Amino acid sequence: MTGSEAICRHVPVLLEEVLEGLAIRQGGVYLDGTIGWGGHTSRILQMYEDTRVIGLDHDAAALEAVSRKLANFGDRVLLFHSDFRQLDKVLDEAGVGLVDGALMDLGVSSMQLEDADRGFSFAQDGPLDMRMNPDSGVAASEIVNTWAQTDLANLFFKYGEEKRSRAIAAAIVRTRETSPIESTLQLADLISSVPGMGRVRNIHPATRTFQALRIEVNDELDAVRQVIPTGVERLTPGGRLVIISFHSLEDRIVKRSFRELESPCRCPKEFPECRCGKVSAGRVVTRRPLVPTEAEIKTNPRSRSAKLRVFEKGRM
Ligand SMILES: C[S@@+](CC[C@H](N)C(=O)[O-])C[C@H]1O[C@@H](n2cnc3c(N)ncnc32)[C@H](O)[C@@H]1O
Repeated sequence: MTGSEAICRHVPVLLEEVLEGLAIRQGGVYLDGTIGWGGHTSRILQMYEDTRVIGLDHDAAALEAVSRKLANFGDRVLLFHSDFRQLDKVLDEAGVGLVDGALMDLGVSSMQLEDADRGFSFAQDGPLDMRMNPDSGVAASEIVNTWAQTDLANLFFKYGEEKRSRAIAAAIVRTRETSPIESTLQLADLISSVPGMGRVRNIHPATRTFQALRIEVNDELDAVRQVIPTGVERLTPGGRLVIISFHSLEDRIVKRSFRELESPCRCPKEFPECRCGKVSAGRVVTRRPLVPTEAEIKTNPRSRSAKLRVFEKGRM
């Protein structure tokens, strides 16, 4: 275990709810699309001697760390360096047709957040990067230093729901005229200095802007939009897809996509029967999202905005 792994272990969120949501069974094969530090996966593997997990992460460093952590489980766990949008390809490669359950625990892990060099944190200085997969895509600094002012303002408003988006974008453009913005603290301090950007309920003024940049850099909303239909397709009948999201934009996509899979028919109400031929893929198990208890939030504050939803594939 490296120093940073020892310090920054990730505590799995809504652990019992995930196990129950997946309805883990003896001999089952599960897909963990966001294996991270393997908290959920290790419990799945511990439940029965013969459960198996296919684990994915697009962060090579996370994968390397978790492969050491899960080494004791031998070939019951197969790890792939992949975006979960490629799960079809990964399952084909693993020779697995359908899985009994799939988990997507979205967003970043504590290991990523707390590693200053990854550039996610406004509390520690580091390069303004924010890529979960540093091997692909563009770093946050490129967006901050090259995008037009209106595009930056729109991004901060749309993905960060930041009310002062225009003022922040203007301050960024003014600053970068003199020198580029390359570090997390440089950007965080700049945002804090924008008039009207004081701390509200102890929340750092840069929180929303950093969130917007992270979503854009990692294409997070498109990722969740794409993975849901593919994930359900690769489930066995009665298998479950469990998704944990950490902000309202993601949760809205999960909620709507699940509903659409449950009731895809768009025929006018006055039609006596469906003519579009779209068939339900299954049922939404969680009418309301499951959220952490006060006790969990107390021991793991990162869980406070988590929402868990479950979809069950039909047994046609
Ligand atoms: C919240 S952490 C998962 C933590 C894990 N459940 C645990 O208990 O340790 C999210 C992980 O998913 C990865 N990730 C996020 N989006 C991904 C994507 N589109 N494809 C593959 N991995 C992704 C991140 O790199 C991160 O390691």
